[in-house]
Amino acid sequence: MYKNRRNSLINHLPKNSALIIPGADLQYRNADSSYNLRQESSFYYFSGFCEPSSLMVLVNNGSSIDSIIFVPEKDKLKEIWDGYRAGPEGAVKDFLFDRAFENHKSDSLVPEILQGLDKVFYSIGKKSGFDQKVIDWTCAANSKDRHSRSIDIIDGSSLVGNLRLIKDDHEIETMKKACDISAQSFIEVMKSIKPGDNEQEIEALFLYEFAKRGGRFPAYTPIVAGGEGACVLHYIENDKNLNKTDLILVDAGCEYKMYASDITRTFPVGGKFSDEQLQIYNVVLKANLAAIEAVKTGNNIMQPQVISEKVITEGLIELGILSGDPEQLHKEGAFKDFYMHKVGHWLGLDVHDVGDYMEGDDFMKFKPGMVTTIEPGIYISSSMDVEDKWKGIGIRIEDDILVTESGNINLTEKVPSNPQEIESLMA
Ligand code: GLY
Ligand code: MN
Ligand code: MN
Repeated sequence: MYKNRRNSLINHLPKNSALIIPGADLQYRNADSSYNLRQESSFYYFSGFCEPSSLMVLVNNGSSIDSIIFVPEKDKLKEIWDGYRAGPEGAVKDFLFDRAFENHKSDSLVPEILQGLDKVFYSIGKKSGFDQKVIDWTCAANSKDRHSRSIDIIDGSSLVGNLRLIKDDHEIETMKKACDISAQSFIEVMKSIKPGDNEQEIEALFLYEFAKRGGRFPAYTPIVAGGEGACVLHYIENDKNLNKTDLILVDAGCEYKMYASDITRTFPVGGKFSDEQLQIYNVVLKANLAAIEAVKTGNNIMQPQVISEKVITEGLIELGILSGDPEQLHKEGAFKDFYMHKVGHWLGLDVHDVGDYMEGDDFMKFKPGMVTTIEPGIYISSSMDVEDKWKGIGIRIEDDILVTESGNINLTEKVPSNPQEIESLMA
């Protein structure tokens, strides 16, 4: 599968060009205590190889893709401490690379590989220090042959991103599983939540429910926000006690076999929505459902965006929070005080996945195999100039939507978003 993905670059990478992809390095939480390695997503997409400080160079030689990898050297002592290493031999035998070398040889060998090529593609500005490395390798390759034309360095982000944007069957199956694990975990935790619980206990329950089902790591730091904390969009303090009369917003998704899921549900800590909470909730739910409807082949990404903005504008007018003409208020962007983020983002190996949002001068059209989140919200912090009864309510409802030939599949619909269903689940 990974070799096929490399070979498919013959249709995307210009002849006589290379695509360079650096792998992830180990990251440390403090001193010498490292996190588990999480391979860089594009590196993983084209290799399935998960050792740190590796590097891939894929060359379109005119008739095929030459795939070259640089990997950590075999080292008995390091393998005793940290585990098995494939080494160059294993990278060729088990990962089907055409050539493999120890990673400390990259500075001398990459210029040789690049020599005489027309173009080098890589994702500019994504890895600290790597831009300079590519420049150095390219200059060294140019100086090896002063009579050939110099090599152009080109940003390869769109090339790789737009391949990853359309998920293949294997990716779709993996993402369905990731979404199922997260959905099931939401259902379990929603059933068990009670007033007085601390947000960090809820976070821990999610991590446990994910891991129990095979999703050991969250795809991002979970947001577990009781009450007004929900109005801080990236709230990750997760350390307050939950009040019976508050809502809790949880934005959490597991990573399963490297693929992300991303779900938000907002529900009452005490199991029953208040009138005001329910009124705002229903506006967000209407926006969520209407925006999901608009995710289909042929539509473009702005359609769910605009629909969500209009539903929220109209809902806020009906509740007396905004006043004026809906069209005019929408045009003025009055909703942005309450709904200040976009309706969604691509989802895949990364939670905010790669892939362009524009094609040429137009917005990207949905195509079968794309996966986007749909996550409208309304956030009313207590510092806002509204009636007191609305203050402290923050609500988002987020689902993961697969585009199909005939419409879409909501991969996260198993977690109830209907308020009556939520109340009966929590009863
Ligand atoms: N969980 C990150 C997001 O919803 O974009
Ligand atoms: Mn999201
Ligand atoms: Mn989210």
